[in-house]
Amino acid sequence: MGAANLKYEIREIVVAAHDLEHLGLELTWENIGDPVQKGETPPKWIRDTISDLVHEAPSWAYCDTQGVAETREFLAEAVNQRDGVRVSPDEIMFFNGLGDAVAKVYGFLNREARILGPSPAYSTHSSAEAAHSGYDHVTYDLDPYDGWMPDVADIRKKIQYNDSIAGILLLTPDNPTGAVYPREIVETIASIAHENDVFLIADEIYANIVYNGADRLNMSEWIGDVPGIAMRGISKEFPWPGARCGWLEILNKGKDNNFAQYVDSLLAAKRLEVSSTTLPQMAIPRIMGDARYPGHLERRANQFSQRADEMSEVFAGCEHTIVNKPGGAFYYTVMFKDGLLDESQSLPIENPKIREAIERMTEGVEPDKRFVYYLMGATGIVVVPLTGFQCTHHGFRATLLETDDKKRAWIQESLRDAIDEYVASSR
Ligand SMILES: Cc1ncc(COP(=O)(O)O)c(C=O)c1O
Repeated sequence: MGAANLKYEIREIVVAAHDLEHLGLELTWENIGDPVQKGETPPKWIRDTISDLVHEAPSWAYCDTQGVAETREFLAEAVNQRDGVRVSPDEIMFFNGLGDAVAKVYGFLNREARILGPSPAYSTHSSAEAAHSGYDHVTYDLDPYDGWMPDVADIRKKIQYNDSIAGILLLTPDNPTGAVYPREIVETIASIAHENDVFLIADEIYANIVYNGADRLNMSEWIGDVPGIAMRGISKEFPWPGARCGWLEILNKGKDNNFAQYVDSLLAAKRLEVSSTTLPQMAIPRIMGDARYPGHLERRANQFSQRADEMSEVFAGCEHTIVNKPGGAFYYTVMFKDGLLDESQSLPIENPKIREAIERMTEGVEPDKRFVYYLMGATGIVVVPLTGFQCTHHGFRATLLETDDKKRAWIQESLRDAIDEYVASSR
């Protein structure tokens, strides 16, 4: 029923880009959050841990449906060492990547139940929610003029006027904006959830990539007694996206019967698949429990912090855009100020075949998508239009992932120049 809502602009642009590649365009991929694809190699000790595991027979076998028992014990212990909600190993549930978890979390909700999520929204969540309900995703605003912080008044209003809302989703650190929410905001959202008897989902896949002085908070520390699901994974922090390994931490399951029943249905669904991939799960306690791990996380956070500073400098003084410096994750969103884009704008593209293809591809598309396609045709840089993130603001998302310093500087400067040139081309 909701099939038309299964849109993933982050990947869809790849199809168009490959068509242009056949016409001779050299591409720079800035559309996807894969550190390895952008040249990062996980440290040798992490790779050695993985290769040792290959020689251990259990890593080849199925594991418990919920996940490897020792790993769940390790992760539950990590939650319990913090101040806040405690969990048992049975409240940790593994999936084949958070992508798989997201599909099940929305797919097994009661058909009428809606989850209120942010706009802009990471499309895996918004599309899964929309596909589950058969309607457009219901959203609250993140405010570009306030560092992309959630508009809590909007959350309150949407919940009050929509009885079908059963939960609120937040992503902190956020994809696509890189915003990290301070304690005051997440606690306000928890109190709205408490007052309205709804549960919370926090996507925390970037929880260990926080910098720029932003608060380092985990959901178990601020949720109080509201039932909630924290989503975690290793794709971004080992980084090992190809492992397809992520997990849910179920918080306050015992506080609400409906919630407990829903969570049990997720596990029942997982049983039909037997289990998630074993080897990456076995690697988690060995890697996260290694004395070198905190240093690894710190080094990466510092590195993204420096890159965020560089990016901020490049965009400083750009009169056409709003660019907030990220406090976490490895994305940034460039938003065009209202009313700047129109259908006459373009960028010069020398190769006539590529130019014709871009003209064809941009017929009748959203204004920011038009900019993104001209940018691709003129520079080969592939970014994702902001309207692809369930958002009415226009702009695009790029990453801080490029490992080659010169190339990263070239990407950021090319983006800045392209913006000025595109806006000025208005006829
Ligand atoms: C916010 C967020 N959640 C979930 C995912 C999916 O992660 P996984 O690789 O575990 O499927 C991503 C991937 O980009 C993401 O950005």
